[in-house]
Amino acid sequence: MQPFIPFARPTIDEAMVAAVAETLRSRWLTTGPRAAAFEQALSERFGGRPVRCVTSATAALELALELLEVGAGDEVILPAQSFFVTGNLVERAGATAVFVDVELRSRNADLDAAEAAVTPRTKVFMPTHYNAPLDAERLARFRARHGVRVLEDAALAIGSKSGGRPVGATGDLVSFSFHPNKNLTTIEGGALVVNDAREAAIVEALRFHGIRRLADGTRDVERAGAKYNFSDVSARLGLEQLAHLDEWCAARERLARRYFECLAGDDLLAPERLPLPPDENPGHSWNMFTVLLPLEAMRRTRKDFIDAMAAEGIGIGISYEAIHLTSLYRAKGFAEGRFPVSERIARETVTLPLFPEMRDADVERVCETLRRVMRRRTA
Ligand SMILES: Cc1ncc(COP(=O)(O)O)c(C=O)c1O
Repeated sequence: MQPFIPFARPTIDEAMVAAVAETLRSRWLTTGPRAAAFEQALSERFGGRPVRCVTSATAALELALELLEVGAGDEVILPAQSFFVTGNLVERAGATAVFVDVELRSRNADLDAAEAAVTPRTKVFMPTHYNAPLDAERLARFRARHGVRVLEDAALAIGSKSGGRPVGATGDLVSFSFHPNKNLTTIEGGALVVNDAREAAIVEALRFHGIRRLADGTRDVERAGAKYNFSDVSARLGLEQLAHLDEWCAARERLARRYFECLAGDDLLAPERLPLPPDENPGHSWNMFTVLLPLEAMRRTRKDFIDAMAAEGIGIGISYEAIHLTSLYRAKGFAEGRFPVSERIARETVTLPLFPEMRDADVERVCETLRRVMRRRTA
């Protein structure tokens, strides 16, 4: 049996282990100098914009919606194809989710549909950088034209560039994830890029109980905060990881090219079933390599395919289900047929293994197995 290839795996080297061990030995574990240094390093990458780290991208997005005072009566425009978190947080804020469909290959929100969805109640547009970086200039025009705040869900996009500049260096509010499946990990963690010191101060307060220190040495709370502060242990790992980010993104792109070479010409995988190739997708950080399965031609279910791949030692993921078809949103009247592209992706998508330590031979093995399993008849 050949070794198992998971669909994602973080790179952890001995320097990272030593850096974390040294932090543990220091006895300063929670938010402190290393968290500040990590925020500073991210800020430098983002052209000096303020960055505040928290315990996850979920926390960063939640605090961003709170910073923007999103609540009852407000509408938030978001793609129907993304991770559940966006739909959940709009619901938790008491606002109304206004879904739009996505484009098939980039899987990003259809920006024309998003423009058409703006109403006087629209407060925020929350697009996800998915299989391509979002167009920074178009987002800026969207914001200027409609007076709507833009919260970029860049959970998958640390290391991406849009128009030659790092995602995070431009735009309004930008949120990143450092979960182990992402291009840089701090175990769990996230970051929010904001516009100025005022917004940074609000996020700082909200991530730690809303506490404000008074001149007499006591503390006060004006606005009920959460407990989402970032640990120095995570930050130290993040600093070590950040030094490798560009090299890892380059490795991901190289492996993505190998996928395209190995899958080229397969009559079951028309180009529309593959992501945009690297030459048509500059700046993409290749967090995932996704494929739309030709389920009808295969005459087997996706579950069956995933189980067969696992039996051959290959891990397959699914990103994502359609948010408007969750029970949460069905109960509000959403049903099949509203966002056909998102629904097709939700039905057919699989995520193939892609992480910097993969070798070309691993990609070749995944492709050879994929081709074989797609054509294997079920009993
Ligand atoms: C698109 C997207 N946004 C947000 C998140 C949330 O990230 P976290 O796990 O850091 O909260 C994820 C997690 O996978 C994601 O895929």
